[in-house]
Amino acid sequence: MMRRHLPSLLVSLVFAGVLAGALAAQSPPAPGDPLPGLTPVEFELFSMGQDDFLEVEEVEEGLGPAFNGTSCGGCHNVPAVGGISPVAELRAGVVDAEGVYRDIDPASGSLFQLFSIPTHGCQIRIPPEANVIARRVPIPLFGAGLVEAIPDDTLIALADPLDLDRDGVSGRAGLVEDLATGEVRVGRFGWKSQHATLIAFGADAYRNEMGITSDLFPEEQSHGIPPELMRLCDPLPDPEDAPEPGTGRRGIDNFASFMQFLAPIARGPVDDQVLMGQQVFDDVGCDTCHVPMLQTGASSNPLFHQRPVPLYSDLLLHDVGTGDGIGQAPAAPNEVRTPALWGLRFRRPLLHDGRAATVSDAIEAHAAEAAGARAAYDGLDPSSRAALLAFLGSL
Ligand code: HEC
Ligand code: HEC
Repeated sequence: MMRRHLPSLLVSLVFAGVLAGALAAQSPPAPGDPLPGLTPVEFELFSMGQDDFLEVEEVEEGLGPAFNGTSCGGCHNVPAVGGISPVAELRAGVVDAEGVYRDIDPASGSLFQLFSIPTHGCQIRIPPEANVIARRVPIPLFGAGLVEAIPDDTLIALADPLDLDRDGVSGRAGLVEDLATGEVRVGRFGWKSQHATLIAFGADAYRNEMGITSDLFPEEQSHGIPPELMRLCDPLPDPEDAPEPGTGRRGIDNFASFMQFLAPIARGPVDDQVLMGQQVFDDVGCDTCHVPMLQTGASSNPLFHQRPVPLYSDLLLHDVGTGDGIGQAPAAPNEVRTPALWGLRFRRPLLHDGRAATVSDAIEAHAAEAAGARAAYDGLDPSSRAALLAFLGSL
């Protein structure tokens, strides 16, 4: 990881200030733009983070031994840096005779990297005892800083794990230990709500996807490769993501800043049909899980202080009949976190495993907790259904 140094930071501040001012004046932001109204320093952090996010890593910088990609941007680039891609990664585990899920090697988890650096034979393999194999597609990062700033209490208040209101929908707030702070928090990032903060997710991704360890995730995943061989394949001492002298910032700090300041995708044009579709969305009960608007909590930074977050998600774990069979803290094998629908018009394929090519296919996959909404959707007359799809196409 090569990082920009402070002198260049200072030189570009004036420049960034002008640019940030210009961006704040024009709205709405284009995909990949930062949040409007960044300070010059925030803009510099955003753009340094974007550089690191796009940087292709080499073996000498810690890549591997096992990896899925060589840069964050390699999998997060449609329709702009921070988005998605059709790349799918593999998870695998075992369901025992009692039907209980377990990871094959608890220290390595359920992710099996597809590639290996070319020396010493450290390519990992999915072992024969694996009887659950699942795919996962990327999640776009637009607006992630606003999502991070939604208070845990908001999500806990939305949850109804025992379905006390008997509407058939029982969302669960998944609690995780945030490795950056040690606090127990409500997970909201990842298909399984596996992380609560961007720094923790980014550090996990740096290790999981690229094999680059940090002080949050200091161990390589060996998946049964003996330690002697691992040392040959990866002689660099861990943690590999060392702080930059001078700034003290690690790569993971820069990724977090980029994601924190990345603006949400702005709404597309809204016409009468879209407005009618929005009403249908609520009438059918899609809004029970795809909650149209949440709000950030109190923050000393005005960008994140009590801001509306029109994300169309409750960020809770649900069983909608699509679960991938992988138990991953804090989610049960059949649970998936409600995806946000903002920016949906730029997203294909859909669902956690990319099995749905179109929005209609994605809706038709909904069952279990979403059975009521699905039945109501199936009963829509053609013009209401067209309006609903027009509304979803405006997100
Ligand atoms: C090989 C492809 C790949 C690479 C490389 C990659 N990601 Fe991802 N990213 C994914 C996939 C797949 C998911 C969904 C994973 C899941 O939930 O199981 C994801 C999800 C995320 C999320 C969760 C977003 C949300 O709102 O839930 C964040 C944050 C993220 N990635 C950041 C990063 C960062 C930072 C890097 C670089 C260090 C990175 N990713 C590299 C594929 C990739
Ligand atoms: C019980 C909660 C619930 C209800 C009700 C619900 N959804 Fe979902 N929705 C989910 C979950 C969870 C997923 C992710 C499933 C997966 O990826 O396996 C999802 C996925 C989606 C996706 C794919 C998004 C993506 O990025 O892949 C779309 C589109 C969608 N829902 C639209 C709707 C519409 C339209 C309705 C109403 C007819 C609806 N949903 C009702 C929970 C719900």
